[in-house]
Amino acid sequence: MDTLRIILLGPPGAGKGTQAKSMSESLGLVHISSGDLLRDHQNRGTELGMTARDYMKKGLLVPDNLIIGMIEERIKMEDVESGYILDGFPRTVQQAQSLEKALENQGESIDKVANIVVSDQELIHRLGGRWICRQCQQPFHEINSPPQIEGKCDTCNGELYQREDDTSDAVVQRIKVFGEQTNPLIEYYSTRGTLVSIDGEGSIEQVRQSLIGAVS
Ligand code: AP5
Repeated sequence: MDTLRIILLGPPGAGKGTQAKSMSESLGLVHISSGDLLRDHQNRGTELGMTARDYMKKGLLVPDNLIIGMIEERIKMEDVESGYILDGFPRTVQQAQSLEKALENQGESIDKVANIVVSDQELIHRLGGRWICRQCQQPFHEINSPPQIEGKCDTCNGELYQREDDTSDAVVQRIKVFGEQTNPLIEYYSTRGTLVSIDGEGSIEQVRQSLIGAVS
């Protein structure tokens, strides 16, 4: 199979993490989540993690200069040879331009950008009921996709927790930040002919099918 490099674009709660996890397994791609990488830095107590935490808690973007280096380092690793799904990066035009330049230098490019469209009301409902596995990061929802055993991950039996930026104030801020700083990427990738928009309000399986169809 050819190398496939995909970006999942969409507001907080659109289902990027849910879909990237399952698509990466079925397409044999590496799932690279900028949010998960930052949370890993926080858990390890690195300087980047500590700096990022102040922004993340408030629902603000971490400065471009901190994020860009972290992702560029990740996409040069050996395990991404057959391709990857970027989840949560890029989020600003500056990040997109830096990514494009870094890929060009390696003779590579992004194949598809899938924009998952979900209404603000649905995003607030999803994030308010989200629980995440501490071990494998699998997201659940207390109503839409509850775990089989309360508080335990179906996949790895890890403990489930709620993110500190899923408070109602931080969620409203994150949706606002998406509209102001990330929405311009729709135009950016549309002019490059790589953008495809997907209705993200069907069931998890319906959205998965639409995404697989759009990127394959
Ligand atoms: P990040 O971790 O990337 O969070 P996010 O983009 O806000 O997205 P989420 O992870 O909240 O949502 P998702 O779209 O993955 O939805 P999920 O699949 O979990 O970023 C966090 C923070 O880190 C940022 O605010 C920023 O501070 C910083 N950061 C990260 N990247 C950065 C960057 N590039 N630049 C600067 N700062 C950066 O689904 C949500 C819920 O809905 C789950 O409960 C799930 O079960 C449920 N669900 C999913 N799909 C469906 C469906 N189809 N129907 C019903 N329920 C569904």
